[in-house]
Amino acid sequence: MARGVGLNLLLLQLVALQQSPVRGINWGWIPSPLDENHNLLAAWYEVPTSIGYVVGERDTILRTADGGATWSDFSSGLGSRYVWYGVSFWNSTLGWVVGSYGKTLNTKDGGVTWYHQETPVSYELVSDVSSYEITIHDVAAASPTVVYLVGDAGNAFRTTDGGASWITMDLETPYDLYSCFFYNTSLGWIVGGLQDRVRKTTDGGLTWSSHYVGLADSIGTSVAA
Ligand SMILES: *[C@@H]1O[C@H](CO)[C@@H](O)[C@H](O)[C@H]1NC(C)=O
Ligand SMILES: *[C@@H]1O[C@H](CO)[C@@H](O)[C@H](O)[C@H]1NC(C)=O
Repeated sequence: MARGVGLNLLLLQLVALQQSPVRGINWGWIPSPLDENHNLLAAWYEVPTSIGYVVGERDTILRTADGGATWSDFSSGLGSRYVWYGVSFWNSTLGWVVGSYGKTLNTKDGGVTWYHQETPVSYELVSDVSSYEITIHDVAAASPTVVYLVGDAGNAFRTTDGGASWITMDLETPYDLYSCFFYNTSLGWIVGGLQDRVRKTTDGGLTWSSHYVGLADSIGTSVAA
């Protein structure tokens, strides 16, 4: 499955997780198996199994089972025009990847097979952007069945049945939402949309509160814990 070791290198915190008891102290370069310049945009990693995934441009989905020492190609096969912006796995076999053209992919077998899941991506919020251009930016798997998505033009969804059906969450913004993090199925945060605001839910996305974080002239693009 691997495409052969290329020249481009990939910076990951995986090395830090393996080599240091203190997260984030040591950063290291890990060779990527890609033979072209593919920007990598998101990563997921599970410490006990040393299994991780990175996703990015040109339908890049890579998987490691040895803490990042070697990587294999688990791309979806949809084509190089797809850019994957977000990845979240519930465990090493069950996960979601999201990206361009509103695409949401699900795997139940560790990335061997990818299935497209239909989301009610809404386009009417932005008149000058075609439906085709809506990007889903991030995904958070809070349980095997409860998963959250955020994307362009205020699009935000949740599922409680593993993605068979997706429900629209109204965050009352027409702006792009970039990142989501869920501590468990009910408690989560979303950033993007309006400047200086982190949106928080304690009821699984039914209601959202808005919190100013006091950063002047900046828009949040990432949230994690
Ligand atoms: C991942 O979770 C799913 C759903 O609970 C389960 O069916 C599967 O066996 C789990 N896989 C692993 C490797 O634990
Ligand atoms: C999620 O975590 C919060 C904070 O610990 C807790 O109050 C809440 O009950 C948890 N919800 C679920 C569904 O576990």
